[in-house]
Amino acid sequence: MSEHEKENVEQADLAETVQEESLFICTANRDFAAYAQEELRRLFGSVKSSVLSDREVLLVRLNTGTEDAVRQIADSRPVFLRHIQPVQFERQGENVGELLSEAAAFVAGSGLIGAGIKAALQVRKSEDAGGESAPKLKEWLEELLRATEAEFVSAGADWIVSVYVTAGAVYAGVSRPEDNLSDWSGGAVRFRREEGQLSRAKFKLLEAEREFGLDLSAYRSAVDIGAAPGGWTSLLLERGLKVTAVDPAKLHPSLLKMPNLTYIRKNAAEMKFRENEFDLLVCDMSWSPKLMVQLVTGLLHALTPGGTAVVTIKLMHKKPMALIKEVIASFEESRLQVQGAKQLFHNREEITLYMIKY
Ligand SMILES: C[S@@+](CC[C@H](N)C(=O)[O-])C[C@H]1O[C@@H](n2cnc3c(N)ncnc32)[C@H](O)[C@@H]1O
Repeated sequence: MSEHEKENVEQADLAETVQEESLFICTANRDFAAYAQEELRRLFGSVKSSVLSDREVLLVRLNTGTEDAVRQIADSRPVFLRHIQPVQFERQGENVGELLSEAAAFVAGSGLIGAGIKAALQVRKSEDAGGESAPKLKEWLEELLRATEAEFVSAGADWIVSVYVTAGAVYAGVSRPEDNLSDWSGGAVRFRREEGQLSRAKFKLLEAEREFGLDLSAYRSAVDIGAAPGGWTSLLLERGLKVTAVDPAKLHPSLLKMPNLTYIRKNAAEMKFRENEFDLLVCDMSWSPKLMVQLVTGLLHALTPGGTAVVTIKLMHKKPMALIKEVIASFEESRLQVQGAKQLFHNREEITLYMIKY
């Protein structure tokens, strides 16, 4: 190979290396973006990022190609990183209408969406972006993409078109729903509030059911520790389980007449249960994690081997990652194997653990 050819090959190699970069918009719960970033840093080494929306949305540049990055992120099962969307189109400017038209032209030109394809349009805005609302921008985008003849859907999409608008830029990307960590826009899981719903906390267990792929109706008998006012208990009853609800506080009166409910108005630390009485233990006590671990592990004899535990861990002040590690280690010493750990969209200053007793 001549020197000139060698140089060309080296340049081609270099070009390939340069291409091995990807850009994502990453979302975490409010105030937890720094921990999502730390999760990425642990995976990829140094991570270049800038804030798009204070304390929750980051623009992240990785030294890894998009496909590889998506796989590594999904495999790592991050706790705080709730949603990722690839950025394949990035334009600075003030005129959102123009930028959106350009983004739509890019999406149409990608050839990924067209007749016979189901596409979900997900449009979000940063806090500082003025102008039209995100739903209005989504309407515009749909209009701009009408000529593609794609079918626009909100669930069950083949492709997701994600657009993020800030005060000075528009970012867009097209991806498979399974590559975004969540198929909800920004990972913001929305459930319809039901009439007579007892607590917002019910959404946490509903979301845990989806996130961890649980089939709650497959269980027989559950104990709900810290059950009042009764959102989790009501969901378990709806799923057809027998429920023992333990709480010194009052359960909502509407639950008390339910035939499958046993309500014990006590501190759970005073409870004595029989061996293997339950195949599901749930605990949403909003308590000091250390005390919660003590209390739950003290009741584990009542959970059948192979039984499931779903608990929320309250994140106290600083260092949530160290705290989570500690709590998981304590549970694992007590024969609970962690299957999933996630800060759900409906978790506030907490995360949810899904565990199986072995
Ligand atoms: C966040 S609320 C639970 C909400 C519930 N998951 C729902 O869906 O309605 C926390 C509950 O834990 C209860 N709690 C705190 N310490 C407890 C203990 N030692 N034993 C039983 N319940 C306790 C509190 O009384 C409170 O009602």
